[in-house]
Amino acid sequence: MPPGWESEPLPTMSHISPGIERVLEINRRALADPDEFWGKVASELYFAQRVGPAFERMDDPPFGRWFPRWKTNLSYNCLDRWIGTDLQHKVALHWEGEPGDRRTFTYLQLWKEVNRFASVLQDLGVGEGDRVTIYLPMIPEAIIAMLATVRLGAVHSVVFGGFATQALADRINDSKSKVLVTADGGWRRGKIVDLKGLVDPALLQTPTIERVVVVKRTGQPVEMDADRDRWYHEVAPTKETKVAPVMVEGPHPSFLLYTSGTTGRPKGACHSTAGYMVWLYYTTQAVFDLSPKDLFWCTADIGWVTGHSYITYGPALRGGTMLMYEGAPDFPSPDRWWELIERYGVSILYTSPTAIRGFMRRGDEGPKRHDLSSLRILGSVGEPINPEAWRWYYEHIGARRCPIVDTWWQTETGGIMIAPQLGLARYALKPGSATLPIAGVDAVVVDEQGRRVPPGERGFLTIQHPWPGEFTTLWGDPERFAQVYFSRFPGVYYAADFAMQDADGYFWLLGRADEVMKVAGHRISTTELEHILLLHPAVAESAVIGRSDAVKFEVPVACIILKPGVPPSSQLREELLLHVRTNMGPIAVPGQIYFVEKLPKTRSAKIMRRLIRDVVEERPLGDVTTLEDETSVEEAKRAYLELKSELERVPK
Ligand code: PRX
Repeated sequence: MPPGWESEPLPTMSHISPGIERVLEINRRALADPDEFWGKVASELYFAQRVGPAFERMDDPPFGRWFPRWKTNLSYNCLDRWIGTDLQHKVALHWEGEPGDRRTFTYLQLWKEVNRFASVLQDLGVGEGDRVTIYLPMIPEAIIAMLATVRLGAVHSVVFGGFATQALADRINDSKSKVLVTADGGWRRGKIVDLKGLVDPALLQTPTIERVVVVKRTGQPVEMDADRDRWYHEVAPTKETKVAPVMVEGPHPSFLLYTSGTTGRPKGACHSTAGYMVWLYYTTQAVFDLSPKDLFWCTADIGWVTGHSYITYGPALRGGTMLMYEGAPDFPSPDRWWELIERYGVSILYTSPTAIRGFMRRGDEGPKRHDLSSLRILGSVGEPINPEAWRWYYEHIGARRCPIVDTWWQTETGGIMIAPQLGLARYALKPGSATLPIAGVDAVVVDEQGRRVPPGERGFLTIQHPWPGEFTTLWGDPERFAQVYFSRFPGVYYAADFAMQDADGYFWLLGRADEVMKVAGHRISTTELEHILLLHPAVAESAVIGRSDAVKFEVPVACIILKPGVPPSSQLREELLLHVRTNMGPIAVPGQIYFVEKLPKTRSAKIMRRLIRDVVEERPLGDVTTLEDETSVEEAKRAYLELKSELERVPK
């Protein structure tokens, strides 16, 4: 944990407020009769067919199915539901590009655009169940392409624009997508990110891609393969076109989203249609109290689950108005975000602790120069928020008026799981705690043996009952799905996070319990980065760890053994950094690379990452009794000292 985080004493509450009671009571009701509770929530949405129960138990992971014989369409519920109502001419999306260009779409206009895009995909042969990879900057077409894909009953796989060639190729190959939607480029800090230039080498490795749809964003010359590539503006119909939404059964996959695990191969978390939709519909209101009057700005990138759930789907299911911004928060001036909030009248801001800590460093003059009085709720997501950042956010952005919703969830959970629920009740918040679980979330902190731990003790977070937003499998790998998530504590979802519940029942999320890093809110696998490093011809072995960082929470640090005869040099270090940037993406670039001669390993050759972390963070060797296998304390100590003296020797 970054310095200073542990020092904050936990505030306590001496009474249980009626607000808490209400939230607990709703949670209990949803758990006691999931079929009744979620069936009722779903009755507010459109289903072409409602047959059988809302919830059905299963013998295998994830041990439940939602709306198994109900039929619906996600794009219909986000868009068509509003056509012909008072909301059809209401703004669905305000978009601002980094250079300052602006576009606005009403629900009717967005619906028309989605129909146009769907007709292009349909003409390219995309149908029910086909996968479409979307690799776009933060432009409206990202939302439009997602909604168009699910309209056809097809499955989108959005790859974050900050990933590069190899990461994109691996994700396309795992999903076996037949169409890729991309753009010529995007804007970032005044420069063009050459997306098409990253795509072309990736496509040399992806045999399943038949067609590439290219959206013109930046306008620089790009190579177009005459057989494979199509400019969107050239193939999009000029006349109004309607594409009937394909009604699919509840568990039908709506999207895959690749996320990092503890192996080098990314995992395609597969989400359902109806359960996911109901979860987003419910949580968007319960947590953010969102209504059509609001202007909701979720600053996440569309390539992460937050962008999926709380840019594309949640607000539209509620008829909300969204703001989407393309570029960097501090470009061309550090006031860019505050200008946006003032200009559009943002009422709900949802962002990450990394962004908040970044602004905090610059001081409060920026926000002070702007009228932020339209704000009424502030949100936080992606990593633990330290109480100091919480307080700064509360005072300097929310002017002590706006409650902060610290929302804990994961790619796998589909939507928010533990958070203050302002749409249901008001109760005391504690800086740094995500407070209480959402309806139907049976969150329990357990010890190594799966036994519930007493209040105030740290343990592993588990979810002991299926919930509607739960992912349904890992794409193409049901065994890994069962093994990674449901075998550590049999029959129970293992979140791989440390957590603690305090005496008031509030949850405190304490970071990952596995080999996954959180870098500026992005989830990055240490092993995936090691694999990328190994692709470089000079690298024989590598070990990556996440080093604590006061702003980004963690930054990757790599220890590398070079191949025999390859001398370490600062030039090679630069080359390796560039190698990571072009193959995995700028978000994964290590903050530090150490060339070493030996890596600390257990007897069964597992890298001792915790030990490396202790050395890199210049801490004494921590508890080694839980290091895997029979590696002795003596061996661990020796390895620690060896690595320490090596790192002291090498120039930084
Ligand atoms: O460690 C937890 C952290 O982010 C992980 C999930 O990452 P990802 O799947 O990329 O989804 C991020 C956006 C939902 C979790 O296992 N995390 C997320 N939100 C919080 C958090 N840690 C503490 N507090 C949070 N509010």
